[in-house]
Amino acid sequence: MRPKVFVTRKMRDAGLKPVLEFCDADVWEDEMPPSREVLLEKVRGVAGLLSMLTDRVDAKLLDAAGPQLKVVSNHAVGFDNVVVADATARGIPVGNTPGILTNATADLAFALLLAAARRIVEAEKYIRDGKWKTWHPSMLLGMDLTGKTLGLVGFGRIGRAVAKRAVGFDLRIIFYDPTGKPEFGAIKMNSLDDLLRASDFVSVHTPLNDSTRHMVNADFLSKMKPNAIFVNTSRGPVVDQAALYEALKAKKIFAAGLDVTDPEPLPLDSPLLTLENCLIVPHIGSASEKTRDAMARLAAENLIAGLKGERLPHCVNPEVYENRRQTTDDRTWN
Ligand code: NAP
Ligand code: GLV
Ligand code: GLV
Repeated sequence: MRPKVFVTRKMRDAGLKPVLEFCDADVWEDEMPPSREVLLEKVRGVAGLLSMLTDRVDAKLLDAAGPQLKVVSNHAVGFDNVVVADATARGIPVGNTPGILTNATADLAFALLLAAARRIVEAEKYIRDGKWKTWHPSMLLGMDLTGKTLGLVGFGRIGRAVAKRAVGFDLRIIFYDPTGKPEFGAIKMNSLDDLLRASDFVSVHTPLNDSTRHMVNADFLSKMKPNAIFVNTSRGPVVDQAALYEALKAKKIFAAGLDVTDPEPLPLDSPLLTLENCLIVPHIGSASEKTRDAMARLAAENLIAGLKGERLPHCVNPEVYENRRQTTDDRTWN
C-alpha cells in the first residue's frame, strides 16, 4: 500500500510527480493555504506531510497526524514555521531545501539594493503618472554603489552569494556572523554595532529565531548611517516594522527594500505602503521557475526518503537519528 501524505499546496510538477508516483497523496489545490482547522483534519493518519512556509507545524499538528507520521518535508530553506523541538521530541525528521535557492535569493537581494539605490520603482511610477517632461540634471537622483560599504548580517549560503555579487560592483564588504568565515574579500566584524556604523547598505541574511526576532529595531536603525539603505530577504519578523517606518519617514535612513514583511501578506493599510522610499515585493526571493522546480524536487526527495525510513538528504534535526540509534542500543543492552 502506498503511504498516505498531505501536500499543503500544489507545487511544481518536478516535485509533485514523484510524490504522486510514490504516495497516496492528498494535494491542496486552492491558492490560499488550508486553514488551521482544515490542516488539523487533513493530516490525520498521514505518514508524511509536505508543508509550506505558511503552515505552522507544531506539537498540536503532529499529534493530530498521529504516531504513524514519519516525516515533515518543508518546501523552503527557512523552517521558522516548524517548531523543530516538537518534531524532534516525537522522533520525526524535518526536511528543508537549502542551497538550490541561494543564487535566486541573492539575486533578489541585489535587485532590491539596486532598485532602492537608483529609485527604480519610483522612477517607473514617475512615467506612468505623466511626470516625465524632459531630461534634467537633477531628476530622480539616487545613490552609486561603487566604493560604498555593504554590511551583511548573516554570512551563510545566501549572505556569501550576495558578497560574491558585490565584488563585481566594487563594494567594500563587511559581515557580522559569529560563526561565518571571511570569503570574497569580506571583512568579519566583531560586533553588529561596528557593522551598522560602517555600512552604507545593510542586508540581512539570518534565519528567524529567538536571537533575530526584532533584531532590526529602533536601536539597530539609529546606528545606521544617515543615508543608508536597508534590505531584508530573510523573514519579516526579524524587523520591528513600526521602528522601520519611523526611520524611513523621518529620513534617518535613505531607503529600504523588503522581500518579506510581518505579517504576510502586508495589509494594504500598512503605513510602510505610504512611503516612497520603501520598496516592497511579495516574498519572491526564490521565485524563478528553475529554482521552484529544484525546491519542489528536493522537498519530494526529503519526503520520500523519510517515508522509506532513509535519512533525509537535508534534515534540520539530524539528532533524531542519534536518538534512534541510542534507543536501539538501549534495547540491545536491556
Ligand atoms: P544559512 O546558510 O544557515 O545562513 C544563515 C547564517 O546566519 C548562518 O551562518 C548563521 O550562523 C547566521 N546567523 C544566525 N543568527 C545570527 C545572528 N543573530 N547574527 C548574525 N548571524 C547569524 O541560511 P541561508 O540558506 O543563507 O538562508 C538564510 C535565511 O534566508 C533562511 O533561514 C530564510 O529565512 C531566508 N530565506 C528567504 C528567502 C526568500 O524568499 N526571501 C529565500 C531563501 C531563504 P549559524 O549557522 O552559526 O547559526
Ligand atoms: C523562503 O523564504 C525559504 O525560506 O525558502
Ligand atoms: C546619459 O545618458 C549620458 O549620455 O550621459
